[in-house]
Amino acid sequence: MFVMKIARLLQLAVFLAFISAMSLMTHADSESVVADRLEFTLPLGIPQDVWAYYIPKENPLTRSKVELGRELFFDKRLSADSSISCASCHDPQLAFTDGKQFSEGVGGRFGTRNAPSILNAMFNSGQFWDGRAATLEEQAKLPFINPDEMGNTSLDEVVARVRNIETYPDKFRRVFGGDVTIDKVAMAIAAYERTLVSADSPFDRFQAGDRAAMTDAAKRGLLIFRTKGRCNICHNINASFPFLTDQNYRNTAVAANHKSFDALTERATKLVQQNNSRSSLLALSGERGGAELGRFVVTGNTLDIGAFRTPSLRNVELTAPYFHDGSAKTLAEVVRYYVKGGNDHPLRDWELGALLMSDEEQHDLVEFLKSLTSDEAKAMAAKSMKKE
Ligand code: HEC
Ligand code: HEC
Repeated sequence: MFVMKIARLLQLAVFLAFISAMSLMTHADSESVVADRLEFTLPLGIPQDVWAYYIPKENPLTRSKVELGRELFFDKRLSADSSISCASCHDPQLAFTDGKQFSEGVGGRFGTRNAPSILNAMFNSGQFWDGRAATLEEQAKLPFINPDEMGNTSLDEVVARVRNIETYPDKFRRVFGGDVTIDKVAMAIAAYERTLVSADSPFDRFQAGDRAAMTDAAKRGLLIFRTKGRCNICHNINASFPFLTDQNYRNTAVAANHKSFDALTERATKLVQQNNSRSSLLALSGERGGAELGRFVVTGNTLDIGAFRTPSLRNVELTAPYFHDGSAKTLAEVVRYYVKGGNDHPLRDWELGALLMSDEEQHDLVEFLKSLTSDEAKAMAAKSMKKE
């Protein structure tokens, strides 16, 4: 009996020793993870599970990876003449846009589209106005070799630049456990971009129950937005996807602003009828006005001619000018565009049409749009105003 008790006690002691050894091991393990864990609080209005859903398993977020991505994002030395970084066109003080109609890259070259905000870009169905890049990782490589943006002649050239900056190779080894590659550059930048989430605006506080968070004019504007303005058909208000976009590609006929659009539409339609190859469609997009073909270049479907992804409306107060071609200088101008029903065009989305809306109602609608500005983005913008 006694012997058996001793044996049991011994067993227990061995078991306990084993457990504490295990916990020591996991403790040591988790300590290095803890050291690299991202301290990050989501802004009011973005549910944790929604954010987590959009972080790919292949590219988990760690503090050091995000830090490396941030460094790359702001580094002008990665462009052909060391004059342009991602942040030149996605400036934190302008809610990660550039404030220009068309972006200016190396050597004063201009692109053909307005720079979108990177805030909340991680939630996009596809990247770019036409969704031609599937992921942030895929997108991040392209500005480096766009001749109108950072102007490198190849991705190898980009890798060589990163390798030649003394502090980078070590950081890449620490974060990824290997040498610099273009995929790792893209992964680090994408990880950083997944921390650029924005909400916590008067609208979010209002939705959370603080009735005083929005002005009366903004509240009236919200009602117009969801009723007679018909805005929420595409910029839908949805608590589980709170970005005021349906993430679909829509033709609002803004593309018809360009004088070559009709001729290009005709040629694109012919090419499709003649069963032409993808490459001939892509060649069209490189022609003057070709950027106006929009989503068509990705799908080859003529119904997508002139279609662009419905943008998020968060922080629009800070991201003028508007539309993919930067053609509207103010939010009042955007609203006027919708009130007239958009440009006349056979491919225009059938949800759009002339609206009956008084000047005061239009003003209220703009006030609502301004209630979508996050406090943080506004504070950064205010800092830049002080500097000027
Ligand atoms: C010269 C200006 C310029 C530079 C430099 C630049 N971008 Fe952009 N960015 C743009 C423009 C313009 C677009 C939209 C282009 C389009 O839709 O065809 C865009 C689109 C994007 C998008 C898609 C956003 C959306 O809503 O679809 C992301 C993400 C992005 N850029 C990240 C980056 C990163 C990362 C870098 C640096 C590696 C970078 N950009 C460098 C101008 C620039
Ligand atoms: C049929 C779908 C649809 C409806 C309805 C709609 N929008 Fe849009 N909205 C879009 C699309 C698509 C774009 C991008 C168009 C482009 O640039 O070619 C856009 C762009 C915008 C922009 C510019 C954002 C930016 O970053 O450049 C604002 C602001 C805007 N819409 C507000 C409104 C308001 C206010 C209403 C209601 C009066 C409204 N929208 C109705 C689809 C729609």
